Amino acid sequence: MKIIQIGTGGWGKNHTRILSELGVLSAICDADEEKSKEYGEKYSVNHYTSLDKLLESEEFDAAFVVTPTSTHSQIAKKLLEAKKHVFVEKPLTYQSQDGEELAKLAEKNKVILTCGYIERFNPAVGVVKKLVKEKNYGELVMLEFHRENRMPLHIKDVGIIYDTSVHDIDTANWLFDEMPSVVFAKAGKIKHEHEDFTSIMLGYKNDKVAIITSNWITPKKVRKFNAVCTDAIISSDFITQEITVENNDELKKLDNEKQEPLLLEIKSFLNAIDGKGEHIVTAQQAVNVTKIAEAALLSSQKGIPIYLELK
Ligand SMILES: NC(=O)c1ccc[n+]([C@@H]2O[C@H](COP(=O)([O-])OP(=O)(O)OC[C@H]3O[C@@H](n4cnc5c(N)ncnc54)[C@H](O)[C@@H]3O)[C@@H](O)[C@H]2O)c1
Repeated sequence: MKIIQIGTGGWGKNHTRILSELGVLSAICDADEEKSKEYGEKYSVNHYTSLDKLLESEEFDAAFVVTPTSTHSQIAKKLLEAKKHVFVEKPLTYQSQDGEELAKLAEKNKVILTCGYIERFNPAVGVVKKLVKEKNYGELVMLEFHRENRMPLHIKDVGIIYDTSVHDIDTANWLFDEMPSVVFAKAGKIKHEHEDFTSIMLGYKNDKVAIITSNWITPKKVRKFNAVCTDAIISSDFITQEITVENNDELKKLDNEKQEPLLLEIKSFLNAIDGKGEHIVTAQQAVNVTKIAEAALLSSQKGIPIYLELK
């Protein structure tokens, strides 16, 4: 199997390392010549600064797109047109309409298109998903997400909703196992060009909700969530991957083996293109997350709830 990667920046260098360790990395491309050379030499693979040149010279099965959000659509389109399986980092595209077109193109060309909603591969989320599905602590009523960190100013193309809240939007859809029908949000900005703090409420069937609080202001890294169920509250930390279950009588810590979510995510995609199972993040689900992010921004601008009918 031969895999190429576009974008070897702050986050992409992790994919490069893992793909090389798995023995499948065959070429990389980064518009920044220095980075392209650095990682090409480090992992002994051909390196390019232009995707067109790479496409002319390399034979490969699949590609990872780890470039800024505003570039995803154009890069993924070229790769899908070349009939390659494509993994695009989150969010799939800046505009949901572009995502819809990519999903159609992937279907037409019979290739897999997926998106980097990495928390699905976080072992802690996997345990909570199972507990919720099996109703071990009754019905899931509410989800609460907190994602806070003082963020560097280098992300210029999108605000916190597209960059950060999308992780929790996808996890909420995954844990409720359905799409929300209404979105209400407030968002503002203090330090960045785009919105840098937000609270989003997603409404699901039977008045169940997910509340997503994200900010790029507070100088403390927090990535936690609670699954409030009828018989207990399940709490987890995306970073430590610890899980606790609490009711009036006891607080129980569950055993859970910590693993690198990115490694699990990449392996799942490689297995899917090898025909050994399905990659669990579908293109349509990723398009839906972008639609919800768009609705959250609109809701915040207009001060009204936005109703959605998602596939
Ligand atoms: N899943 C996660 O937890 C997670 C975490 C961080 C970032 N991300 C996502 O990863 C993507 C990249 O983020 P980052 O923080 O690494 O950004 P970055 O700015 O650090 O790196 C992006 C790299 O892409 C290169 N690049 C830009 N345009 C290009 C083009 N047209 N062709 C080739 N190379 C190009 C840049 O030179 C740079 O090296 C974004 O979509 C972001 O949302 C995901």
